[in-house]
Amino acid sequence: MASGKQGQLSPALKQSSDILVDHAEGMYIHATDGRRYLDFTSGIGVTGTGHCHPKVVEAVREQAGKLVHGQYAIVRHQPMQELTPRLAELMPGEIDSLFYSNAGTEAVEAALRLCRHATGRPNMIVFQGGFHGRTMGSLSMTTSSVGLRAGLQPMMGGVVVAPFPDCHRLGMNEDEAADFCLRELDHILATSSTACETAAMLIEPVQGEAGYVCASTRFMQGLRERCDRHGLLLAVDEVQAGYGRTGRFWGHDHYDVQPDIVITAKGLASGFPLSAFGARREIMEKAWPGSQGGTYGGNAVACAAALATLDVFEEENLVDNAAAMGAHLRQRLDALAEKHPAIGVVQGKGLMQGAWMVDAQGKHDGDRAMRLLKACEKHGLLLIRCGAYGGQVVRWLPPLIVNREQIDEAVDIFEQALEETG
Ligand SMILES: Cc1ncc(COP(=O)(O)O)c(C=O)c1O
Repeated sequence: MASGKQGQLSPALKQSSDILVDHAEGMYIHATDGRRYLDFTSGIGVTGTGHCHPKVVEAVREQAGKLVHGQYAIVRHQPMQELTPRLAELMPGEIDSLFYSNAGTEAVEAALRLCRHATGRPNMIVFQGGFHGRTMGSLSMTTSSVGLRAGLQPMMGGVVVAPFPDCHRLGMNEDEAADFCLRELDHILATSSTACETAAMLIEPVQGEAGYVCASTRFMQGLRERCDRHGLLLAVDEVQAGYGRTGRFWGHDHYDVQPDIVITAKGLASGFPLSAFGARREIMEKAWPGSQGGTYGGNAVACAAALATLDVFEEENLVDNAAAMGAHLRQRLDALAEKHPAIGVVQGKGLMQGAWMVDAQGKHDGDRAMRLLKACEKHGLLLIRCGAYGGQVVRWLPPLIVNREQIDEAVDIFEQALEETG
């Protein structure tokens, strides 16, 4: 006999809209009430190929009829066998060895374990504003907002936070910010985390949750030089910035730097839960036996989706499209910022742009950002927010299939919302 309980989602889950989705296709989400929304969220940077790309859907259908779960500690399956060399080919430099898991945070945790095992050292140097996930190891390395960590102490030990070259916040130009942060990093190595107990540096080359704040070539190369000098690993978290989002395949491609470890998820399988990290075999070999694993990692259907995703990337030149459309989006947002003082600054790369909202005194304005999102939703455009100061940054991260007209339509709606909420 049914108890009559209604059942509900955990109230701890914050949702930015009440939209109930019926179906989604390409750039659009269709709600059960018949409304259509232009999706500039990509499900937080996931659906690069657009919603339900027919090639991805077809590959998934076919794979689901053949094998859904072939646990990778027991058997191997064809989609993973095919995906591994293709992903290795996309990894920078000599990186040829891959480990699969489901969520971004799991891949970060697995990379963290490898950094410790491979070096025999405990500490991780991470950078202010970085977001690496919500499980305790990743969360301990996350400093994008106190709200994520509040009430959850104690965090994992051995995490040292260094400054990130956020020019805008530091009030410096790019080179000054890089030099300042590198000096601070040297100070950290001299005072808080000596090289012989530091395993690695972990960085988001283009920060996501912090508000689309970009590192610089000078800074990233400074990290590489210090990692080489002190025998540390350089790990890049490409969960959000990777897979073409910034207009290059990897976010760190903008900085001409070779990392030792690359962590990826989100765009990898067009919405199927799949994550991975790559390292050179001689580093990966140092992982203690059994230290990498998981029940669902490298799921066969998710790997088939990832293969189809790569096909679509190639056939539709999605990385080039992200670069071209990103430039257009940025130009339109910069022009809007000239006209509307409520936009303090626009930061980001490619199709990963953040409009930082400020009030009349130039202070962060999370409330305005929230009202803007609501007004945009009313006009059929979905955007999301981020930022440590009450969610003051309006994020623009459309699917990589976006075209010029859709960007123009979205920016026009945003401008209308600016006027309505002013
Ligand atoms: C840069 C970065 N790293 C890690 C994660 C965690 O990924 P997931 O939410 O899949 O665990 C995210 C998620 O937003 C992210 O943006």
